[in-house]
Amino acid sequence: MKKLFIKTYGCQMNVYDSARMAELLAPLGYGATDDVSDADMVILNTCHIREKAVEKIYSELGRLKRLKEKRDVTIAVAGCVAQAEGAELIARAPQVDIVVGPQAYHRLPEMLARLARSGGHALETDFPILEKFDVLPKDTTPGGASAFLTVQEGCDKFCTFCVVPYTRGSEYSRSVLQIEEEANRLVARGAREITLLGQNVNAYRGEGPDGRTWSLAALLHRLARIEGLSRLRYMTSHPRDMSDDLITAHGELAELMPYLHLPVQSGSDAILDAMNRGHTADDYRRIVERVRRGRGDIAMSSDFIVGFPGESDKDFEATLALVRDIGFAQSYSFKYSRRPGTPAAAARKQIAEDVKDERLQILQALLCAQRVRFDAGCEGRTLDVLFEKPGRRAGQAIGRTPYLQPVHVEGAASLIGEIRPVRVEAVFPNSLKGSLAREKVLAN
Ligand code: SAH
Ligand code: SF4
Ligand code: F3S
Repeated sequence: MKKLFIKTYGCQMNVYDSARMAELLAPLGYGATDDVSDADMVILNTCHIREKAVEKIYSELGRLKRLKEKRDVTIAVAGCVAQAEGAELIARAPQVDIVVGPQAYHRLPEMLARLARSGGHALETDFPILEKFDVLPKDTTPGGASAFLTVQEGCDKFCTFCVVPYTRGSEYSRSVLQIEEEANRLVARGAREITLLGQNVNAYRGEGPDGRTWSLAALLHRLARIEGLSRLRYMTSHPRDMSDDLITAHGELAELMPYLHLPVQSGSDAILDAMNRGHTADDYRRIVERVRRGRGDIAMSSDFIVGFPGESDKDFEATLALVRDIGFAQSYSFKYSRRPGTPAAAARKQIAEDVKDERLQILQALLCAQRVRFDAGCEGRTLDVLFEKPGRRAGQAIGRTPYLQPVHVEGAASLIGEIRPVRVEAVFPNSLKGSLAREKVLAN
């Protein structure tokens, strides 16, 4: 058997794509390995979102070049750097054999055959997205208790800082029936939880079984009926697409977990406008308020950018004010990274690196304190936990709460794939510890 090593960078959509690439290559005799030095084929599934993410790829390619000097290994670069750099990648790193964009990776088997026939390099960066989902294999081997399912791809929003509309192409939604079929298959393989993925997942507008266009809320209602599927999540959503029916769904669907990742980026209206986000800070506050009215226990998570061009101290203060108003259970924050080809990269008022550093530190301290407070509030509570994998010690299992916190539980190893009430006994910086509880969870 040939060995395949895949390294995944970036977002969950890349995680989904990496799993599909492994499935595509399995019939060609490739089995997974965790050891790169042992691999016959290496795929780097890459991310282009920030400059640092791209630098990482080139340093990894440097290491792979040395590996290739020692053994015959096929090197493929997939994902958003492949899409953005295209042939430039091969020019800069000739050790790369294959460059394949995120909408063309279903062609990998064909590209490998071409390489075997005529050598050289293979490059595919088209957007034949309709074809991709039809061609992907329909895997039936057992999978994890929690699964990802891409329902929407691409982005038409063009936030002025972001490369995604260029690397993933324009918005496309899969049909309800195609998604339902994949969800059924995932459940048959052991999934109890499915996270619906999309760059703008709540911009989902897919063809319904009735021939009409369905919203994400309608899709969620449909999937909630699948027997054995106990938990639904979706990410990443955009404030502009938090439609009434989606907000209402949070109060209606017990399967929809009370955790919402809703990136806001900034709390300053001037910056939100310059970012082309299409909403104000108060719009965001109102959305969260409405979701909370329907589902009081919902925990919020977000993404933030500090040091966007033109961001003044006052703008940054407005971001801190928004964070204090909302209270986040979890968050991701980044320094603005200038991405070639995006409008904000050309803005004159770029922010100095030391100012960005300082703002990031202040924001992260506040967000971290909020996360610690949220986790501490879980101590003593009984929460439903979906057990996903064995822990480090014998008999131990690790699962997740409705709020995605990892929990270690002793004596739960036989419960992998099941959902059980767990009493949270201790809170650590990155995880919780609990024990199986007898009582039923009343609400979470
Ligand atoms: N579609 C999602 C986010 C996709 S990118 C949305 O609309 O929110 C994930 C996160 O990376 C973004 O939310 C943003 O916070 C961050 N990001 C994107 N481009 C960036 C850049 N140029 N510099 C710094 N952070 C960036
Ligand atoms: Fe990027 Fe904005 Fe699209 Fe999100 S909505 S992927 S941040 S352009
Ligand atoms: Fe990165 Fe592409 Fe995802 S740029 S964040 S891997 S869509």
